[in-house]
Amino acid sequence: MKAVICTKYGSPEVLKIGDVEKPTPKPKEVLVKIMATAVNSGDVRVRGLIVEGFMKIVMRFVLGFTKPRKAILGTVFSGVVEQIGENVTKFKVGDEIFGATGFKFGTYAEYTALNEAGSLIVKPKNASFEEAAAIIFGGQTAIYFLEKVGIKHKTNPKILVIGATGAVGVAAIQIAKHYHADITAVCSSNGVGIVRDLGINNVILYDKEDFTKYSKKFDIIFDAVGKTNKSQCLPLLEKGGVYKTVGGLDVATETQEQLYFLKELFEQGKYSAVIDKTFPMEKVVEAHQYVDTGHKKGNVVLKISH
Ligand SMILES: NC(=O)c1ccc[n+]([C@@H]2O[C@H](COP(=O)([O-])OP(=O)(O)OC[C@H]3O[C@@H](n4cnc5c(N)ncnc54)[C@H](OP(=O)(O)O)[C@@H]3O)[C@@H](O)[C@H]2O)c1
Repeated sequence: MKAVICTKYGSPEVLKIGDVEKPTPKPKEVLVKIMATAVNSGDVRVRGLIVEGFMKIVMRFVLGFTKPRKAILGTVFSGVVEQIGENVTKFKVGDEIFGATGFKFGTYAEYTALNEAGSLIVKPKNASFEEAAAIIFGGQTAIYFLEKVGIKHKTNPKILVIGATGAVGVAAIQIAKHYHADITAVCSSNGVGIVRDLGINNVILYDKEDFTKYSKKFDIIFDAVGKTNKSQCLPLLEKGGVYKTVGGLDVATETQEQLYFLKELFEQGKYSAVIDKTFPMEKVVEAHQYVDTGHKKGNVVLKISH
């Protein structure tokens, strides 16, 4: 099968298309024909070993010293179950599914074999394969962090979403909307259209004004891009308010429950995939170059099969 191989850590050119053995599913695994994946900020971080200071050493221990041990990157997918192991009960051949592989990686490929108990479920009925692949990374991350700040237990919380136009930001806005939050978004002038399309009127343009001087106070401040710290945001917090950033040491985990939640929102028409660009697998280098800029809006999809 064709796959994108990460030959070493470095610039996007380290990614090469090659032929590797097609996996065979173990008894509890499904063989998935991957239709689409996404190129996320996490993928470019791994490819380029883009982390600060001592974390570089930690990452080398976790991921591999000179190159990723898991040479096929990619952590999200949508696709079709092509074969099932003899003990699989949850899926059948032909099911259209979506999910995340976490540290197993392996979704920049035509096939992957995954344990049925992992973070994979039947995809939203009304989602294309591209949309289904696009919503996973930002969606699962935003759900993880917004649950940590207890959003579902607050009544109409006032929330400030910093970095509202990234994969995590557009997801956070839509999830906060579901919880009837009063949302204010921080984004650049280039991103304001996307934020308004998501139904947000209170927008602070960080390239035009200093958001820390804003007059309103918030119950939740969620930095979805990791560009702030708590002390900077303290003046904007209500008494008892909480600050959370994706930029700390807390790493989001992926669960089936998060996928069910995203599927439900998508099927109810309450969730949009916000796809910025779609690239074919052959253009994976260009896709990584684009995501490397740090300016993508929403999600970048990598189409694997047609
Ligand atoms: N801790 C975790 O578990 C976890 C999980 C997922 C992601 N992350 C981290 O979260 C960060 C965001 O991820 P992502 O996938 O959403 O990134 P992304 O899709 O690449 O988006 C970044 C977005 O932020 C905007 N932006 C850049 N600088 C900004 C600023 N100073 N203020 C407000 N907006 C700004 C960019 O648009 P403009 O440049 O036009 O403003 C862009 O739309 C990454 O650093 C990633 O590594 C952490």
